[in-house]
Amino acid sequence: MDSILVTGNGPLNGQIPIAGAKNACLTLMPATLLSEEPLTLTNAPRLSDIKTMTALLQSLGAEVSSLQDGQVIAMSSHDLTSQTADYEIVRKMRASNLVLGPLLARFGEAVVSLPGGCAIGARPMDLHVDGLEALGAEIELKDGYLHAKAPGGLKGAVHEMRFASVGATENIVMAATLAKGTTVLMNAAREPEIVDLVECLRKMGAQISGEGTSTIEIQGVDRLHGATHQVVTDRIELGTYMLAPAICGGEVELLGGRMSLVESFAAKLDAAGVSVTETENGLKVARKNGRVTSVDVVTEPFPGFPTDLQAQMMALMCTAEGTAVLEERIFENRFMHAPELVRMGANIEVHGGTATVTGVERLKGAPVMATDLRASVSLILAGLAAEGETTVSRVYHLDRGYEHVVRKLEGVGAKIERIKGQ
Ligand code: EPZ
Repeated sequence: MDSILVTGNGPLNGQIPIAGAKNACLTLMPATLLSEEPLTLTNAPRLSDIKTMTALLQSLGAEVSSLQDGQVIAMSSHDLTSQTADYEIVRKMRASNLVLGPLLARFGEAVVSLPGGCAIGARPMDLHVDGLEALGAEIELKDGYLHAKAPGGLKGAVHEMRFASVGATENIVMAATLAKGTTVLMNAAREPEIVDLVECLRKMGAQISGEGTSTIEIQGVDRLHGATHQVVTDRIELGTYMLAPAICGGEVELLGGRMSLVESFAAKLDAAGVSVTETENGLKVARKNGRVTSVDVVTEPFPGFPTDLQAQMMALMCTAEGTAVLEERIFENRFMHAPELVRMGANIEVHGGTATVTGVERLKGAPVMATDLRASVSLILAGLAAEGETTVSRVYHLDRGYEHVVRKLEGVGAKIERIKGQ
């Protein structure tokens, strides 16, 4: 297994290009299942999760081609051969469950493995099931698979979700595009990736309104046609790299960044003493004056502070002046980066869903282990600011969500290299 060697090397300066959003692409790709006509995505990120979704769609019989070095994904699901998403693929990536709604809507049948737990939590699918059953689906759990049927087709309904689940919103909205009648989904998730999905579905002929708010209304149509859609910028990659000049000093411009994607995150950085300004090419980030100060964080559904930036923000707070309390309200086990940061000299106390971080002047480089996607990049950020060398192992986690990390950070002056595993 490869590892990444980072050496603290002072302030960072320059530009980092931000790629298309992994979490938008992972819901846009299954949307191809809703139509017999081709769907093409541009500005797609080059990530292992995208390869996993490609393999899943191909296992269903869809044609998926990766063009222009992976930045364009051309898909067609005219001739599907299966409606079963196999455990072997789903267990690797929970987002595989996003084929459930489209398969059910188009074919009236889907068999999707439950994803099983992952490092950050149990990750059940009850909200997906509740919503699809509200549309008339009959779903039963057998041998670890959800067996879903809608023999007479799905019917529009009014449904309120217990929690604003991102994936459940995506599955229900995709299914409702081909249901008979009108669906009103309440307490819907408001993430930009959902707005991006709806914009793509609308290009395919779907009748949808309210995306980005808590209530989304969908008028079912008989069929959807093909489209070409540009994947929205990745706000989590954007936020991650905004933290690089924050933790190291210097000034970095994030190309393609937009303030509207990271409003609450940028506000937190501002409160911690980091300025974020819009430029014509993206966002420019720099410390306002020397060491950052501790700020408290609570993770919430969009537009609140993103859970996917909690680990990275913790790295910054490890070097801040004061004490910060980080409360993780979305996932039940998303502090596994904390013990690794403590190995680097951080002062962190975790009690249940709350981590109390007392800043230290400087972290010390050490060998650490990535435990999940966002934890891996949190350790790299810490290593950029630490004294000496940090080796982050198990970087296959990183490859799921960050393309060309070494190249992007080297480009702003970081001392970082990938060490091939034996
Ligand atoms: C999406 O996961 C993202 N993944 C996650 O990003 C992100 O952390 C999460 O949304 C929250 O923003 C993709 O978009 C591919 P949820 P998702 O359904 O849809 C519970 C990353 O690092 N829940 O909003 O799975 C669940 O257990 C990944 O890129 C139920 O209880 O998130 C969790 O505690 C990690 N029942 C909470 O809701 C359900 O049926 C949030 O889950 C569904 C979810």
